[in-house]
Amino acid sequence: MLSVAVLISGGGSNLRALLDAAADPGFPARVVVVGADREADGLAHAEEFGIPSFTVPYTRYATREDWGAEVAAQLDVWQPDLVVLSGLMRLLPAQVVARYAPRIINTHPAYLPEFPGAHGVRDALAAGVDQTGASVIVVDDGVDTGPVIAQERVPVLPGDDEHTLHERIKPIERRLLIDVVRRVATGELDLAAAALGEPAP
Ligand code: GRF
Repeated sequence: MLSVAVLISGGGSNLRALLDAAADPGFPARVVVVGADREADGLAHAEEFGIPSFTVPYTRYATREDWGAEVAAQLDVWQPDLVVLSGLMRLLPAQVVARYAPRIINTHPAYLPEFPGAHGVRDALAAGVDQTGASVIVVDDGVDTGPVIAQERVPVLPGDDEHTLHERIKPIERRLLIDVVRRVATGELDLAAAALGEPAP
């Protein structure tokens, strides 16, 4: 049974989808802890499912490295097999990535390498493209630059604003995330190989 830690900053709809999937006894992974960089609304999902959580408020630390060191210390308590960043709006410091790589994956609401960064949905709209997407990557030291392990196109429709487009992307993101976690848990997807750029099966 793959143990998963999920790090969030926001509403945690992707976290919720993973918790719902993991509630199925046949799902080969379980969320063991949820962490947040602030008092995120999504922590309520962890409470509802009786999953332990921790909060490491980013604003209380002098540096990103100090904040990251505490996040890593909290994660180490649980020794997760996989760390999922899902809506974490902070860049993990390099030493935290190094500690867990390649067992850290991130979901992103764009078709990477298109539109990386904190405003992928807004940037796609601003670019006037007729399609964007959702991606799951192996986290590396860059900003959404890691190897893509799953992605799917999502249409941009006339009249879309950031909210309507993001809400169309999120269900795709959730499905991709749950499938990736399942494939990692079953051994079908080798993150070390993916991190080396070998094509995902
Ligand atoms: C997701 O689209 C995630 O990829 C992006 O922010 C959103 C978080 O949504 N970084 P939620 O908190 O899971 O609802």
